[in-house]
Amino acid sequence: MSSSPITIKHTKSGAECTIFPYGAHVTSVKSAEGKELLFLSKDAILDGSKAIRGGIPLCFPQFGQPDKSMPQHGFLRNNYWKEVENSRFDNDESAGISMELSLKDVVNSRGGKWDTDTKLDAKCTYTVKILPDGFTTTICMYNLGEESFNFQVLLHNYFLVQGRMALNGDVCNVKGLEGYAVDDKVSGEKYVCDKPVTVPQKLIIDRVYDPPKETIDLNLTISAGKSNNLSLTASGEVDGKPVSVSGVVWNPHEQKAQAMGDFGDDQYHDMICCEPGLLKGVPLLEGGKQATFTQTIKCL
Ligand code: BG6
Repeated sequence: MSSSPITIKHTKSGAECTIFPYGAHVTSVKSAEGKELLFLSKDAILDGSKAIRGGIPLCFPQFGQPDKSMPQHGFLRNNYWKEVENSRFDNDESAGISMELSLKDVVNSRGGKWDTDTKLDAKCTYTVKILPDGFTTTICMYNLGEESFNFQVLLHNYFLVQGRMALNGDVCNVKGLEGYAVDDKVSGEKYVCDKPVTVPQKLIIDRVYDPPKETIDLNLTISAGKSNNLSLTASGEVDGKPVSVSGVVWNPHEQKAQAMGDFGDDQYHDMICCEPGLLKGVPLLEGGKQATFTQTIKCL
């Protein structure tokens, strides 16, 4: 299995992205103008011994570690994925590739009900499509067995903040989460979001935003530095039925940055994680059925 990074270039516009087979991990997306959209830690470990710090880690079948017997954020980000044969394309509108991972090939601890002695059988495919002004990533989960399973799935985007401005709320913020129920993992508080989200001056931000009733898709505007605005839309479905999308905003700030061996001590000024996910009220995925989760990021 190849472990070398794959470059996908959209010939018509010059936009391009890099994907590591380890984790099907997108580490870089450059727009047609050559602007990098994603943050990759200068200390990221790229040899397959640890999930890559930056880019877009994939989280499934859990976000965080509700099941302690399974790795934090699940097992997709620390397994080697295969390229789907003949999946590369490059046409006028976009270029892309698909990767796949079967549960039987998962080597890292699955844990809990996903452990190797269960009857569960599943496969994930991940398609990355590069556009002149952004990109789309789509993960599909197939239940190939007979037993139903529940899951969470999340696209853990690390966005690059231009000009080291992550703590400047005027130019680094996330709009579109107003009305969402906030679960603040740092303070323990729960409240309803009523303004654009900014990174606090002195504290880690680690918050989950669950949508109000009847809001299904996530639609955000992310300011990631002066004149660097992005739109993020995300939607998901289980067996053809739409599921509400939650959002997570995370920045490790100084204290957590220093504690992470694969993150530069002061690089928290350079990034903001804005992560769409199917986290709450996700229906069981029954045997033989499929779930899909997709996001599109565009430069505004
Ligand atoms: C965020 C979580 O999405 O990911 C944080 O909300 C977590 O709690 C962060 O610290 C990074 O996780 P990890 O496992 O990549 O260090």
